[in-house]
Amino acid sequence: MKKIISVVGARPNFMKIAPIHLEFLKYKDLVQHWICHTGQHYDEKMSKIFFKELNISEPDFNLNVGSGSHAVQTANIMLEFEKVLIAEKPNLVIVVGDVNSTIACSLVAKKMNIPVAHIEAGLRSFDRTMPEEINRILTDSISDYLFVTEQSGIDNLKNEGIEESKIFFTGNVMIDSLVQNMSKIDSSAILSSLDLDKSNYILCTLHRPSNVDTKVPLEQILNALNSFAGKRKIVFPVHPRTRANMELFGIGGDLSASFLFTDPIGYIDFLCLIKNAALVITDSGGIQEETTFLRVPCVTLRNNTERPVTITMGSNHLAGTDVSKLTGIVTDILDGKVEKAAIPPLWDGKAAERICRILI
Ligand code: UD1
Repeated sequence: MKKIISVVGARPNFMKIAPIHLEFLKYKDLVQHWICHTGQHYDEKMSKIFFKELNISEPDFNLNVGSGSHAVQTANIMLEFEKVLIAEKPNLVIVVGDVNSTIACSLVAKKMNIPVAHIEAGLRSFDRTMPEEINRILTDSISDYLFVTEQSGIDNLKNEGIEESKIFFTGNVMIDSLVQNMSKIDSSAILSSLDLDKSNYILCTLHRPSNVDTKVPLEQILNALNSFAGKRKIVFPVHPRTRANMELFGIGGDLSASFLFTDPIGYIDFLCLIKNAALVITDSGGIQEETTFLRVPCVTLRNNTERPVTITMGSNHLAGTDVSKLTGIVTDILDGKVEKAAIPPLWDGKAAERICRILI
């Protein structure tokens, strides 16, 4: 019996590991699959709700590291994860995405000569001021199995000199979760509970440090959103980082009554909100992919994206931090001037199946 430990830490990790966990259950005579939660995210609405909704059991290990500076958080995860690996001696560690938990755990495993598989490898924003870009480059450089979601990932890894035999184009596990939960998403009561009609609202999320950690960009973005409030309601589930900064900078008090600020929203209800929105405005990575799959127009408030297929094929538009560009794109979308987009190759709900077959 082989032992595999998959690591989750922050909100976008849970829906990536859920389909892997469910797939490994099919091989339970061969593999014992455990989930280790680092505790990077810990609120009920940032973490626990996802385990309940995605039908995965409570994590087998919980490191409870919580928040901190990058160094403190990464170091604490490493200290605690090493204890788990010493005790359990797994045959493989699986990490996903690009958060601090991803690099912390892959580094610990590699130093103990335990092979590492990285799911969602090869994505690059080419912006090394983003903490996630550092996490991606370092994790990929030491991983043994690199599972890629789009062609750009293969190209980037080859350009960085990664051996081709380690790279596998397997598709997008985040889309697996979406496909697996589609009927629950369609049965969600969130529209009626927030008094929303289909296509009659804009959904917005913001949490990138470059947009929310200083007053000027955050205030400019909220003011720009305010200018659309006459046309549509604006539904804004607020990330804890963003809420804290809005309070710190004293902004948001004079926004239109069309704004609907909420706490972070669970997976099923949030996907229902994406699916039925007129458009989504975000700085998230994963939401660019979910909107592409659901063919809902998305405007990304960043100067770059590590997921270029969402632009070349999908429904995503980069607005950068230029508020006038944001206004132009949103106006075009609301006026129906953008074309329907396509779904990228292998975003078909079967990525976990491919990944687990390769690992087995
Ligand atoms: C992290 C990831 C980012 C990902 C995002 C999704 C890194 C470097 N960043 O950013 O890539 O897109 O998660 O949300 O790993 N907080 C709470 N409750 C929680 C979690 C956080 O209140 O459950 C607050 C704390 O004040 C914390 C702050 O949010 O200091 C930021 O959390 P942190 O995990 O450091 O980074 P995120 O901004 O969430």
